[in-house]
Amino acid sequence: MCGIVAAIAEREVSRILLEGLKALEYRGYDSAGMAVIQGQAIDSLREVGKVQRLEQALEAHPLPGRLGIAHTRWATHGKPETRNAHPQASGHLMLVHNGVIENHQHWREHLLEQGYQFSSDTDTEVAAHLLHQRMASGDELLSAMQWLAGALEGAFALAAISTKEPEHIVACRKGAPLVIGVGIGEHFVASDPMALLPVTRQCIYLEEGDVADLQRESVSIYQQGQAVKRPVHRLDTESGRASKGAYRHWMLKEIHEQPAVLAECLEGRLDSQGRVLPLLAHDESAWLQSIENLHIVACGTSYHAALVARYWMEEWLQIPVHVEIASEYLYRRVVVPDKTAFLCISQSGETLDTLNALRKARKKAYQHYLGICNVARSTLVREVDHCLMTRAGPEIGVASTKAYTTQLTALALLMLAMGQARDENSENLQQAGKQLLRLPSDVEAVLAHADAIRQIAEALMQKTNVIFLGRGYQYPVAMEGALKLKEISYIHAEAYPAGELKHGPLALVNEELPVVAVAPNDRLLQKLQANMKEVQARGGQLYVFADEAVQPEGQLRGLVHLPLGGDWLSPVRASVALQLLAYDVAAMLGHDVDQPRNLAKSVTVE
Ligand code: M6R
Repeated sequence: MCGIVAAIAEREVSRILLEGLKALEYRGYDSAGMAVIQGQAIDSLREVGKVQRLEQALEAHPLPGRLGIAHTRWATHGKPETRNAHPQASGHLMLVHNGVIENHQHWREHLLEQGYQFSSDTDTEVAAHLLHQRMASGDELLSAMQWLAGALEGAFALAAISTKEPEHIVACRKGAPLVIGVGIGEHFVASDPMALLPVTRQCIYLEEGDVADLQRESVSIYQQGQAVKRPVHRLDTESGRASKGAYRHWMLKEIHEQPAVLAECLEGRLDSQGRVLPLLAHDESAWLQSIENLHIVACGTSYHAALVARYWMEEWLQIPVHVEIASEYLYRRVVVPDKTAFLCISQSGETLDTLNALRKARKKAYQHYLGICNVARSTLVREVDHCLMTRAGPEIGVASTKAYTTQLTALALLMLAMGQARDENSENLQQAGKQLLRLPSDVEAVLAHADAIRQIAEALMQKTNVIFLGRGYQYPVAMEGALKLKEISYIHAEAYPAGELKHGPLALVNEELPVVAVAPNDRLLQKLQANMKEVQARGGQLYVFADEAVQPEGQLRGLVHLPLGGDWLSPVRASVALQLLAYDVAAMLGHDVDQPRNLAKSVTVE
């Protein structure tokens, strides 16, 4: 999704801005741009496509100067075209913007009446003209930005520079993250701390509604016009981008990191007897015990993790668990029974739909507001009462892999903690805890079957449609497998609970259609076998990911035997196998696996 980088320094800033944009590339974007002030002049470059194109343009047309702003844009208002890329200009000033301005149409009409002309389709240009208009009527850049932050509705972050005041950058945060980098005699702004790592480890996280004024030697922050102090944090060097090493793509590296990050997620949270240690707070046992209902809200892959957790929690805790996609939860009447906890799950902690769902939930009478997240200083972590960190480390590939399996691990821990709070001495839960301790090595064992999985990928890469089937725990696994495949290979893929085939999707099955079934050795195996026969009877091409002890009957196009098991953690193992499948198909097709088209790593718009 869009990225902002800005810098004011003693040295030239275009290289700093470019490196910052490169650090944000993983988030997904479709165009990039930069503006730099030198003396009384402002100059800019904008390119559709990769940051590399902007870099080439800069070689041909350098932007000298010590004050500048830069941006990667993910199209929302207007196509990915140069005229819609940022920075957007209005006379003497230029502005970059993340997020969405909801009342842009109202202001656009007002500005047209005032004689302003528009050269883009963006809501950003509206913000640039408003800032300009405000300065034309006497405001300085800072007070104009303070006014603008109040006048615009939506969730956004802005940074602006003007040749009329070429000694500072002003920026504001209202619903989209923004962080200030503190250097020696230089300051930076970015929408993601990743962009700051090449230049500083000291940072200040802006709060909602903050407007910041950055000069070379100072930073001032205002909240509703009043100066406020915000603490300086040290960026964790671990959050820096390690290298891809020998791996061809970040996604492949992240798939193979899973044994290590699952171990990290479990570290210090389970004792050797499988008992969960305090996860969220020292007094958690009493209030975890009191939870009688759970509402879980998330998007995409995080939603699939929640669906797996529903099976676990209803089975082990026997409490009703309602799981919902955040953008749906947002716009319906939600009934909250007594003693219900709200849990939101997000890898980034910045997904706007999920944050808005949390804010809506905050107005309801939930007993607790909990989160599961991977980014320590994210908005989600700050807005929940207690957050369980997944400890997956930075995930660069847009397609979520290690973030997902650590979410599942965190949910498993939470389930065990809630169970333990209800029955401190439950043997079953301790056994489950011991199984969870073995998960990192189980996943290692699945990864050892990568070559066999690649053979199935070779067959699927020729296809245009794929159906994934699973039953029970494996239904959300099939959904996640289908999402992974369509996300990075662009092959249409759908998932069904295998028992649902005969209620409609069976009509699609013929000799051309590949059907991928996930078959662990569990109590639903017989039922699944019957569904697989339904596919075979119609000549469908059946590919099966089966536990080593399972021998599927009838004609198969492909079979991979894996140590899936048949226990409650089999969905984690099976998901890893389907991640490899999707990766192989996309890599063999030659796609940009880490930055698939039209997608962004962190979706900060509604
Ligand atoms: O950061 P979040 O977990 O809130 O992101 C939610 C989804 O946007 C995300 O999981 C998306 O579906 C991934 N690209 C899936 O691989």
